[in-house]
Amino acid sequence: MKKILVAYDGSDASKKAVEVAINCSKKEDEMVFLTVIPAELAESSFTKMLLPTIDLSSIVKSGSFKEKAAETLRKVAKTAEGRVKKTEVAVESGDPADEILLAGKKHGVDVIIIGYKGYGKEGRFLLGSVTDKVVRHANRSVMVVR
Ligand SMILES: Nc1ncnc2c1ncn2[C@@H]1O[C@H](COP(=O)(O)OP(=O)(O)O)[C@@H](O)[C@H]1O
Ligand SMILES: [Mg+2]
Repeated sequence: MKKILVAYDGSDASKKAVEVAINCSKKEDEMVFLTVIPAELAESSFTKMLLPTIDLSSIVKSGSFKEKAAETLRKVAKTAEGRVKKTEVAVESGDPADEILLAGKKHGVDVIIIGYKGYGKEGRFLLGSVTDKVVRHANRSVMVVR
């Protein structure tokens, strides 16, 4: 497989994607774990409304969302250590599908491994919107874990 990108949003489906990624990998493979902070989280009117009150702007600007995500990802990456040659974590912000596709290119991965749904949408959709977009637009292999 060589280089694998795993899209992780903390959902059970993405946890399973990590598990399957590890089980499908070889010792000489490299694995990149990616979380995308959705742009609307930082830019929503709800967030803006709260800005003067709890100064959420400093939290967003100081990049502590990113740092928190990176911390979680490093724990996830640890579960792959010893099983693959190298692990990396990446945190981006923006549109999750776009950023997953971009990261796939940037890191030159051979396959993107992704869950079939995110959190909190139990049984509502057959396929998550992020996964749908990634599958339709990727110019490399995508493995959707069920
Ligand atoms: N913000 C994100 N960062 C990284 N991966 C994500 C993100 N959002 C979704 N994913 C990946 O896409 C999979 C499906 O999620 P998604 O398409 O958002 O489903 P839903 O519409 O049910 O939330 C997740 O299991 C995860 O692998
Ligand atoms: Mg989602």
